[in-house]
Parts: sequence; structure tokens; C-alpha cells
Amino acid sequence: MEVKRENWGSRVGFVLAAAGSAVGLGNIWRFPYLTGENGGSAFILIYLMFIVLIGVNVMIAEFALGRSTGLAAVGAIKTYSHRFTFVGAMGVLSAFLIMGFYPVVGGWSLAYVLESVTGLYAQSPEAIDETFGAFITGATQPLFWMLIFLAMNILIVAKGIKGGIEKAAKVLMPTLFILLIFIAFRSVTLDGAGDGLAFLFQPDFSQVTGQTFLAALGQAFFSLSLGMGAMITYGSYLSKKETLPGNAGIVTALDVGVALLAGVAMFPALFAFGLEPAQGPGLVFVVIPMVFAEMGGLGTLFGLLFFVALSVAALTSSVSLMEVVVSYLIDQRDVQRKKAVYGTGIVMALMSILASLSMGVFDPLPVFEVGFFDLFDILSDKVFLGLGGMFIAIVTGWIVDKEVLRKELTNDGTTKFGLFEAWHFLIKWIIPPAIFIVAIFGIIDIEQ
Ligand code: PFF
Repeated sequence: MEVKRENWGSRVGFVLAAAGSAVGLGNIWRFPYLTGENGGSAFILIYLMFIVLIGVNVMIAEFALGRSTGLAAVGAIKTYSHRFTFVGAMGVLSAFLIMGFYPVVGGWSLAYVLESVTGLYAQSPEAIDETFGAFITGATQPLFWMLIFLAMNILIVAKGIKGGIEKAAKVLMPTLFILLIFIAFRSVTLDGAGDGLAFLFQPDFSQVTGQTFLAALGQAFFSLSLGMGAMITYGSYLSKKETLPGNAGIVTALDVGVALLAGVAMFPALFAFGLEPAQGPGLVFVVIPMVFAEMGGLGTLFGLLFFVALSVAALTSSVSLMEVVVSYLIDQRDVQRKKAVYGTGIVMALMSILASLSMGVFDPLPVFEVGFFDLFDILSDKVFLGLGGMFIAIVTGWIVDKEVLRKELTNDGTTKFGLFEAWHFLIKWIIPPAIFIVAIFGIIDIEQ
């Protein structure tokens, strides 16, 4: 008997859930610190170029693959080509790799919800900096919070699409948006904020190398949840009535908007406090609390709201990562949803324990010379997402029949997609070699 595939409850629900997957730690934690490490506005421009040229087009492709087959990543790709099934499998692997460190940072964010109401913002800037360093390098505290974060994922994903993911996204994504606008406003009105805006918006190309391009491409994929089938999976739940290019455009615009807003919230404050832009992964957990500390009593309220919202943004992304693995197990291996969720959760917990302990307790790994946290991060974002995106473009451009795509993207000719030819040309001819070239130059550059 054929079971009807569960659908999203509503259009807004889907957009918010897909945007919920895209908008997450990648925008608020990762984008600002990568920008800081890669010299500011030149990195942002390259990132924006990749979003427009590659990201949004791959997202349209992923939605089309998912909805036309009604199957999650592995099944969707297998429907079109058995030879490329490995691409879906690579996506499942990427989901595990990202979920090997994402819950650690999600846990930091949860911990900062509590820190917000226990006096963090009464501390001096130096003490705020030290608190974060001491916290993440500890053994038990970060593990505790990471496990809570993961348990929340398990609860949501176990409930299935409509009941869990969609409801959570509907309320909390708009909250995050509004909060970031408030913080950005406070940040740009601090004394000395102008240098931060210059850092963000006056390009200096002297720092740009092959690695900058690879980092920007990796960030574009990571931030838009592409290259690993998350958007194939979400697309598979989307009703036949929706227009795919329009939805992809909205999700991309929201995602980029939040990243830029996070940058505007952080860099003016960072320069105002005289900090180094290349702070690394601690940036959001150090600079933002300093802004709140400046605000007096209101800071506690804002801080609390901010870290609740950040935790939720992280959660709506991590559930989509977990859903990639879970829907694979359900569709391809006939595993029950609950069993799939628990099994997946246990493996992710073990990986995240390794990642969390690598922040201070473990020494860096031999050969790789980095810890598990960085290893999972580098492998997913600099290797697998890009490769996955390249293969998804190849399958879409070279294997799926062009007319099938045209029908899918115009809803059987009932809606318009004026840029169809341009999109198809990019997916077929430009995007695969572009990703390949960026990857090769980036890797050569790392070797040197
Ligand atoms: N896009 C998410 C973020 O920016 O935090 C991370 C992510 C979610 C990456 C889902 C990949 C994915 F499939």
C-alpha cells in the first residue's frame, strides 16, 4: 500500500522551515568569525558572488530533485541515476560530520542563556573573554549542554515534520530577526563603531588568496544548507502547488540578510571595544556579551533573548541535519522513525563528545594536526559540501531530462520561470567546473 507522503502544513511553514535550516550558527556564529579571519569586506563580496552564481541555483536544483521524486537525498538521486547514488550517501556522511560539532556550539549557546541571567554582563570585558575560554576548554560543562541540545533535536525530529520542526520555526525565526536588528542598531551607535563598518563594507583585496575563495564557497554552501541533500529532503515534503525558484529566492535572501545583519551587529562593536577581528570561533560569545554589558540592566534582558534566539536558530538547522539521516533510514532502509532518530542521535552524541573535548582536554590529532572539532568542520565545509554541490549540479544538469526540470520548475507550465534557460546553463556548464577550480586552488593554497 502506498502511504501518502507527509506535506508541509502551509507555504509560510515551508519557507520558515527551509529558512530555519539555512539560518543558524552558520550565519551568526560562523559568518562573522570567518569574515574577521579573512579580512572583512573582500571576503563578503566573494561570498555574495558565490551565493548568486552558485548557491541559489543549487538550491533550486535541490528543491527540484526532492519534489520531483518525493524522496529524500539518497532516494531522489538514485531515482535519476544509480551511478550517482554515492552523492546521496556523501550527503548523509556530511550530515554526520556537521552534527559532530554543531551540537557543541549549540550547547555553548544554551549555556549562555543561563550565563545571561547569572551575572555575565556585570563583568569587565576581559573577564567576559576569559569566561568563554575557560568554559569551552572544560570537560563536563560543555558536554552537559551539548547533550541537552542534542536531546532537544531528538525530541523534535522524533515527532516528525509538521508537529515538531514547523511549529518551532514559525514562532522563533521572526523573534531572532527582530532581535538582531535591535543589537545591530545598538552596535552601530557605539563610540568608534565607524571602523567596524569600514571593515565590513570597504573592500581590501590585498588579503585575498585561493583559501579565501574556498572559505567563501564553503560558507555559502554551509550557510544555505546545500551540497548534502538537506534541501532535497525538505523539497520532497513540499506541495506540488509551490513555485520552487521563488521559494529558493526567498530562503536565500533571508539567509544572506541574517548573516549581514549579524556582521553589522558584531563588527562595529568589536572595533569599538578595540578587539582583534580574527578572534576565531569565540567571536559571537565574546563580543555580543560585551555589547550587552554596556547596556546596563537592559543588557540582561537582551542577552537572554539573544541566546535563546541563537539556540533556536541552531536547533532549526540541526534538526534538518538530523532529518537528512533519519529520512534516509526511513525511505531506504525501512527503519521506523523513532528508532532511526535514537540510533542517529547516539552516533552524533559520540562524535560531539570527541569534538567538545578537543577544545581543551585532548591534544590535537597526529597527522591532521587539528582536533576533532576542526577536523569535522574542515572535512564537511571545505571538502564534502562543495563536492556534493558539484555532483548535485552534474546530476541535475547532465542526467535529469531538461524538460522534466522545466515542468517541475514551472509547475507544468502553469507558473513562469523566465530565467529557466540561464539557470540550466549555469547548472550544467558553469557551476561544476567553477566549484572544481575553487576547490583545487584552495587546496593548493593550504598545502603551501
Ligand atoms: N545552514 C546551517 C547554518 O548556517 O547554521 C547549517 C546547516 C544545516 C548546514 C543543514 C547544512 C545543512 F544541511
